[in-house]
Amino acid sequence: MRTSTLGEGGPEVGVVGLGCMGMTFAYDPTGRDDATSTTVIRTALDLGVTLLDTADIYGPYSNEELVGAALAGPYRERTVLATKVGLVPGEGDELVRRNGRPEHIRRSIDDSLRRLGTDHVDLYQLHRVDPEVPIEESWGALAEAVTAGKARRIGLSEVTVEEIKRAQSVHPVASVQSELSLWTRDPLTEVLPYTEEQGIAFLPFSPLGRGFLTGRFGSPDDLPADDWRRTLPRFQQDALKANLALVDAVAAIAARYGATPAQVALAWVLAQGRYVLPIPGTKTPRYLADNAASADLVLTAEDRAELDALPAPTGGRY
Ligand SMILES: NC(=O)c1ccc[n+]([C@@H]2O[C@H](COP(=O)([O-])OP(=O)(O)OC[C@H]3O[C@@H](n4cnc5c(N)ncnc54)[C@H](OP(=O)(O)O)[C@@H]3O)[C@@H](O)[C@H]2O)c1
Repeated sequence: MRTSTLGEGGPEVGVVGLGCMGMTFAYDPTGRDDATSTTVIRTALDLGVTLLDTADIYGPYSNEELVGAALAGPYRERTVLATKVGLVPGEGDELVRRNGRPEHIRRSIDDSLRRLGTDHVDLYQLHRVDPEVPIEESWGALAEAVTAGKARRIGLSEVTVEEIKRAQSVHPVASVQSELSLWTRDPLTEVLPYTEEQGIAFLPFSPLGRGFLTGRFGSPDDLPADDWRRTLPRFQQDALKANLALVDAVAAIAARYGATPAQVALAWVLAQGRYVLPIPGTKTPRYLADNAASADLVLTAEDRAELDALPAPTGGRY
């Protein structure tokens, strides 16, 4: 696996990481299997996929437990382990809500370390900015985890450049995680140019468009029952049908390389910057291998331009 670093001066990582969320949260409740997910996590390390992303809210809590168990013994030290804080279980219809209070963050790091079975994480991320708490206060609590040796570095998720700058005034920002893919390009205008300039790692989440760009879903009925994606605007019947034109275009380019659409989608994301480290999510061994191999796929300038020119999708992100 080709490597880069988790931002300037950060630890070395394979350029393709692994998102663990779907192993216990949000997607495909009936298709989950901890034993297979454990195999995926350990095989990832053998393939050079060393950046692993989880969060306390995934499950909630079961994702960190699964990752922690999978990394027990010799695996932990081969991993650049990233988790997140700042979202808590919601009430009523809401899946999650924000909590960026310093006291919550101070408590949560210890709980995450216990579930992960480790004495430190390599990256501790603020999952969302809490509008009721100044970012400087939440960020200050994450910085305390660095001082205490519980986190090597700290990162942000889904933030504006202004918010990154406010955090930087308190403590260095090692990474920014935001949705970036062929159908979600918002970070390309301001956030990604800023992170690249500052040597901050950028971790694209949902780089496969939550699986849609791989061509697996031709209709909402192809999504597993009780799958959270069924609630998202882009996966509703009419929007999904319209968005299949994007998949067709990606598949046509993939055919030129004898590659899969997933690999083309990831190669395009990887081409967006020096410190861009996508974290595609999978619980399936063959998809893991497919995604890892995307690091070797270099798109021609013509194919990149064709992908750059794809139209915006139908339907909002959430
Ligand atoms: N910071 C945030 O707010 C935030 C939000 C969302 C996600 N994330 C992080 O980003 C990670 C990735 O995002 P994501 O899981 O939402 O979306 P994604 O990586 O775009 O897509 C995941 C979906 O694609 C499928 N898939 C993966 N590789 C495939 C391949 N080669 N061929 C066919 N299908 C493939 C997976 O299937 P299987 O699972 O069935 O194998 C899963 O259904 C998450 O795991 C999480 O760590 C962060």
